[in-house]
Amino acid sequence: MSNKNKTIQVKNSDYLAQDTLITLSDKSHVSFIENKIIHQDIFDALPHLPENFVDLLFIDPPYNLTKSYQSHTFKEMTSAEYEKWFEAWFVPLLKILKPTASVYVCCDWKTSVSVYKIISQHLKIKNRITWEREKGRGAYTNWKNCHEDIWFATVSDHYYFNAEAVKMLRKVLAPYKTIHNQPKDWFIDNNNQPYRLTYPSNLWTDITIPFWSMPENTDHPTQKPEKLLAKIILASTRENDFVFDPFLGSGTTAVTAKKLNRKYCGIEINQTYCHYTLKRLEMAETDKKIQGYENGVFLERNTSFSKLKKLFTPTGV
Ligand SMILES: C[S@@+](CC[C@H](N)C(=O)[O-])C[C@H]1O[C@@H](n2cnc3c(N)ncnc32)[C@H](O)[C@@H]1O
Repeated sequence: MSNKNKTIQVKNSDYLAQDTLITLSDKSHVSFIENKIIHQDIFDALPHLPENFVDLLFIDPPYNLTKSYQSHTFKEMTSAEYEKWFEAWFVPLLKILKPTASVYVCCDWKTSVSVYKIISQHLKIKNRITWEREKGRGAYTNWKNCHEDIWFATVSDHYYFNAEAVKMLRKVLAPYKTIHNQPKDWFIDNNNQPYRLTYPSNLWTDITIPFWSMPENTDHPTQKPEKLLAKIILASTRENDFVFDPFLGSGTTAVTAKKLNRKYCGIEINQTYCHYTLKRLEMAETDKKIQGYENGVFLERNTSFSKLKKLFTPTGV
């Protein structure tokens, strides 16, 4: 194994006594679940969740594929069965949302259709984000699958959205000039390369799936990148808002929320994954870095500010 491998390892015994890990058996107050991880089946936790407290709900459910999550295997079903399963937890979960809340739901191309059908009956659909993931197996008899959908919806038309907080630093392909021969909202780095701060679109091509040399990486099979969560959290919440994730996995949502000074809570059925979360939360006490998000701006895929910094004039960013 390469000595650059930063994959997070946990010994379950290190985290057994942690009071951050809870299970719910009675109706709970928000203060009881704030900044806690609920280690439980979503169906058992749901009846005990408080109401009307969540500003941002991020949902990354098992897609309709046979996949092993250590102790549990999710089995592929028909689309109709998947929709029934999805509805069984999604509809009762809606009670946790504030009237101003935003909701993001991750899907692959196949579940996207089912998910849209269900969530559009309960929420106002605002957009569908397409995230280009660069990893994925080639297929001989089909097109390689290398994108995911993320539905963005809100409870009402009164919701928070901060586009300024999620601007991207991009190389400019067509650097137009004004009639006075000045750059049109772009600036030059020390190598004469034109850059611009741009508002993000619904096509996300700048985010890499965690891999072994990234400090956020765990052995979770479908871990989402912190950069992806950072965009969603910064766009759709203010500091101290409450972020909830009912399929927390390795803890990406909770960890990113913590790094960005938001409150969080999540549910996860698998103990080892809960322990990854606890370890990552512990690491976030002293290290608030989010790879790909630096100095308040998002960088293009696989760039780092330390490489770019020497290129910029001080007025650049
Ligand atoms: C797609 S993964 C989420 C990954 C997560 N976004 C991350 O960044 O690590 C779905 C997670 O849901 C968990 N899960 C599956 N069924 C569950 C259930 N009934 N209750 C709670 N968690 C469940 C799985 O163990 C898995 O970790």
